[in-house]
Amino acid sequence: MATTIKTADEIKKMRIAGQLAADVLTMIAPFVVKGTTTNELNELCHNFIIDEQQAIPAPLNYHGFPKSICTSVNQVVCHGIPNDKQLKDGDIVNLDITVIKDGYHGDTSEMFIIGKSIAGERLAKIAQECLYLGIHMVKPGAQLGDIGEVIQKHAEKNICSVVRDYCGHGIGLGFHEDPQVLHYGKKGTGQKIEVGQCFTIEPMINLGRKTEACKVLNDKWTVETKKKVLSAQWEHTLLVTEMGVEILTIRPGEKIERYINHS
Ligand code: MF3
Ligand code: CO
Ligand code: CO
Repeated sequence: MATTIKTADEIKKMRIAGQLAADVLTMIAPFVVKGTTTNELNELCHNFIIDEQQAIPAPLNYHGFPKSICTSVNQVVCHGIPNDKQLKDGDIVNLDITVIKDGYHGDTSEMFIIGKSIAGERLAKIAQECLYLGIHMVKPGAQLGDIGEVIQKHAEKNICSVVRDYCGHGIGLGFHEDPQVLHYGKKGTGQKIEVGQCFTIEPMINLGRKTEACKVLNDKWTVETKKKVLSAQWEHTLLVTEMGVEILTIRPGEKIERYINHS
């Protein structure tokens, strides 16, 4: 499938879908505490998306995924399946939310720290910085490799590794559209970025040097670090604008602006 350029009408719908996905994270944040199970978080998000947003949780039944959100704890890189285990002090948790509204997808994820984790907080901060640095590279005429390079450099400078097995993606009527957005690479390589494109950046960053290897568990979904080191991820859905980029899934209180304009 070729990369699509969104029409003005599609952009309106992408803005709404992005806002709804962000709102789910804002809604669920106070519930992500010690003793809660990821199944409880799944159910709260599922009901909110269906009943309050009149939207669809995109993961549910997506290629057979059994739940409405992904919950990835500690060494889980992505695609963690909500379960009945209680969150405990020191856990780090990624909640990845994708909603469909009026046919269009909004996809975003955030890290939560349960109680205190020095290593987990440091890793989550580095992963968020990777996302924000990547977002700052987005403008018409830039190349996808420009995004990959800044993310890889920032991760490796901090003795972390970038997961290679999963990547960001075009998004719209499809959950995963072209292009693939790699979180490593070299500037001046890869597809040219164009006005009206929508894609995600969602770096998965593992603690330690040469720790990027992943394995999929027997449940066919859960992805873990091979070396069992901690992994962190943040994700935003983006729209390429004339001047730069609009973050469609931005939440209140984030340390980045919705519109980034390069003159
Ligand atoms: N939300 C994930 C992404 O960022 C994809 C999850 S697919 C699922 O692309 F089936 F695991 F939900
Ligand atoms: Co995504
Ligand atoms: Co996602």
